[in-house]
Amino acid sequence: MNNVLVTGGAGYIGSHAVLALIEEGYNPIVLDNMVNGHEELVKALGAEVIVGDVGDVELVSNVLKKRNITSVMHFAAYAYVGESVTSPAKYYLNNVAVTASLLDSMVKARVNKFVFSSSCATYGLPASLPLYESAEQRPISPYGHSKLMVEQMLKDFEFAYGLQSVTFRYFNAAGADPGGRIGERHVPETHLIPLVLQAAIGLRNDIIVFGTDYPTPDGTCIRDYVHVNDLVSAHIHGLHHLEKGGASDAFNLGIGRGYSVLEIIDAAKKVTGCDIKLNLGSRRAGDPPVLYAESTKAQQVLGWEPKCKDITTMISDAWSWQMKESSR
Ligand code: UFG
Repeated sequence: MNNVLVTGGAGYIGSHAVLALIEEGYNPIVLDNMVNGHEELVKALGAEVIVGDVGDVELVSNVLKKRNITSVMHFAAYAYVGESVTSPAKYYLNNVAVTASLLDSMVKARVNKFVFSSSCATYGLPASLPLYESAEQRPISPYGHSKLMVEQMLKDFEFAYGLQSVTFRYFNAAGADPGGRIGERHVPETHLIPLVLQAAIGLRNDIIVFGTDYPTPDGTCIRDYVHVNDLVSAHIHGLHHLEKGGASDAFNLGIGRGYSVLEIIDAAKKVTGCDIKLNLGSRRAGDPPVLYAESTKAQQVLGWEPKCKDITTMISDAWSWQMKESSR
């Protein structure tokens, strides 16, 4: 059995990866401290779950050695851009220092395949669009810096210790398992699509549109939304790539087109059939006006292709999950 350690495997993207790994015949072993994870959701998938911290060197070393781990998918991280500006120490300690200790334990346990969740936040304000992997990486938040520091660490660990890695720079993860088993449950929720759906269902009075004066056709920010199942299918391709001896590399994951905040809200109105009240607010600090990916490198090198390029399907899957969540 191919044992894959999945850090942060009880979180939004991590839990979808656990499901994909099980379906691919792998044996995922989840390590999650449950600060942002949901133990019951991932346990219901049939995965083994260890509740603990990735920063616990003894625990991690024991798991790597005693459970014959062959590769690691590292999702565990803090991921609130705004919070990272006010609490940078939290981000550098958890996202950088803890990852360094995980990589060190991997080297000592001779586990040399690593799949890393990075972010389009490593690019900062794009000089041109779409964003290619070769674009300059100049983050504008401690969160973006923390992810970029790990990308650098991976290059250094490969040079010194031969650790092989695939890095994915996510654009905006969206949707949920179409089977309704898992979905997005952040506390607090800060992401656009779940907030819009909470407004549709009446859990919120309205949705605040962060800025209507951007240099975009409708004045609101444009983002590249990619279905969470497509994100995790890239991870499976990445793992196969490393297993076949493929070279370490970094890949964008997006669908290559953007939707504005107002387009997302309109699509959500159609999917839900509900009226969604808008509250036209001011800009949120640190938001680039437009971000969308050029992801053909992942297609060419890994054979990955996003199956879902339809925002209605992404929102519809998220809606099914939201309805299920609110009926609990
Ligand atoms: N937005 C609103 N109102 C809200 C929430 C969001 O108008 O209540 C807008 C944002 O300003 C942004 C867009 O909706 O323009 C998407 O915002 P999200 O918070 O859903 O996502 P982000 O683009 O800010 O964040 C995502 C990932 C981060 C990653 C970041 C990189 O979730 O992890 O992209 O830019 F770091």
